[in-house]
Amino acid sequence: MKERKKIVVGAWKAYLNKAEAEKTATALTEWRNNNDKKFDYDIVLSPSFPYLVSIQNIISKSDIALSAQDVDTVEMGAYTGHIPPEMLLDVGCKYVILGHSELRHRKEGLKMGLGIIHSKVKAALGFRLKVILCVGETIEHRNSKQTFTILTNQIKSALEGINENIVRDNLNIAYEPVWAISSQKPVSPPTSKEINETSQKIRSMIEKYLSKEVADTVRILYGGSVNTENVCSYLNEDNIDGVLVGGASKESSSFINLLTAVEKKVSLPLIQ
Ligand code: PGA
Repeated sequence: MKERKKIVVGAWKAYLNKAEAEKTATALTEWRNNNDKKFDYDIVLSPSFPYLVSIQNIISKSDIALSAQDVDTVEMGAYTGHIPPEMLLDVGCKYVILGHSELRHRKEGLKMGLGIIHSKVKAALGFRLKVILCVGETIEHRNSKQTFTILTNQIKSALEGINENIVRDNLNIAYEPVWAISSQKPVSPPTSKEINETSQKIRSMIEKYLSKEVADTVRILYGGSVNTENVCSYLNEDNIDGVLVGGASKESSSFINLLTAVEKKVSLPLIQ
């Protein structure tokens, strides 16, 4: 079986203004170009739409890749307010995050959204954008033991029927329990063992709806309050191929600290 390269995604949500985003991207690019290239992970940054071009200008001097936070399913034409996949490719995006819970819950609608997300996955992969598809249960689902029903629903509806040839090597799934995102104590993220088991089940679902051969190429990430202290406990697990980092990626000091923890395979104290 082909080894899956690990991946660390910095998801900047709507946190940073232009100057802040450029400052973080510049510091990361300098760090990446000076650091040990044995650190063979994919690093991806996902700024807000208005800053994609300026961030790409900065990170294109390194091997850090650009991701958008969403895409529309239309082609270029008379679609005011829409962003077709071609435009993301045109400004240098290699990845697109789809189905993030903050979009599923606020914009796409939980039920209707399943069909929309399927169309977006298909459109993005069709243009050879790499997809980071987010899935995850709410605290209510978890408390009523519906986690796997929800995950199965999200994965089946997003992937069933999509041509395997466009999925192969281009799909990443981020398992993000909604209740663990941006969590403040006392809500603490799930244990790495628990996430490892869930990731294994997610891979079996992909196998069921696509094929084993394709499922083996899919990277499964964990997202939800990942930080410098806990990141390695996740990445040490066999079935976790990467992490999607929100809050801890928006400032260069904390993201570089997190990447250093990954590189050295240690836990580092949080920067206050
Ligand atoms: P967080 O965000 O790291 O701030 O919890 C993760 C996410 O929303 O994917």
